[in-house]
Amino acid sequence: MKNRINIIHGDITKIAADAIVNAANSSLLGGSGVDGAIHRIGGMEILEDCQKIRAKQGGCKIGNAVITRAGNLPAQYVIHTVGPRWNGDKQNGSELLRNCYLNCFKLAHDNGVSTISFPNISTGVYKFPKKLAAEIALQAINESLSNNHSIKRVNIVCYDIENYNIYCMMIHNS
Ligand code: APR
Repeated sequence: MKNRINIIHGDITKIAADAIVNAANSSLLGGSGVDGAIHRIGGMEILEDCQKIRAKQGGCKIGNAVITRAGNLPAQYVIHTVGPRWNGDKQNGSELLRNCYLNCFKLAHDNGVSTISFPNISTGVYKFPKKLAAEIALQAINESLSNNHSIKRVNIVCYDIENYNIYCMMIHNS
């Protein structure tokens, strides 16, 4: 499994993949952090698709995911998922964060995606503990890869060096 996972230190909007995952909020209307960068660089196409989804289902719940076109990003799709905001409830937060990853893989599979990039969902504005988030992410990604052979490559794109070091250490020790 390990050889289908790449840990990258960089900006997710600059790395080509079939699908780029966005750490969005329930409104799907954009925000700061990676969400801001994706909407800013991707452009109106993404916002238009998000607005259509809002009109149909009223946004996106925590742990769920939706898919849109990717506008000017080097990707075919953006998969928007809404991570939990850390509130100290480890069990519920972990379950919701795990659901984010699993639901992104479901959408990727249904849309014929073979390469996908993930940011470190919930570890910025939503303040989820980085080490715990990385454990949950790697477990969900490994599980999804073992059930899903159509995904050829998963990029875990760490913007901050702290996350990058955590992932490198965990992959190295696994
Ligand atoms: N590429 C990759 N990762 C990035 C980028 C980028 N260009 N910009 C920020 N990040 C990283 C942050 O360093 C952090 O580790 O993405 C991770 C997630 O941080 P946030 O973007 O703040 O997302 P999150 O913690 O899930 O909070 C979501 O932030 O702005 C909003 O609309 C968004 O309300 C939602 C909330």
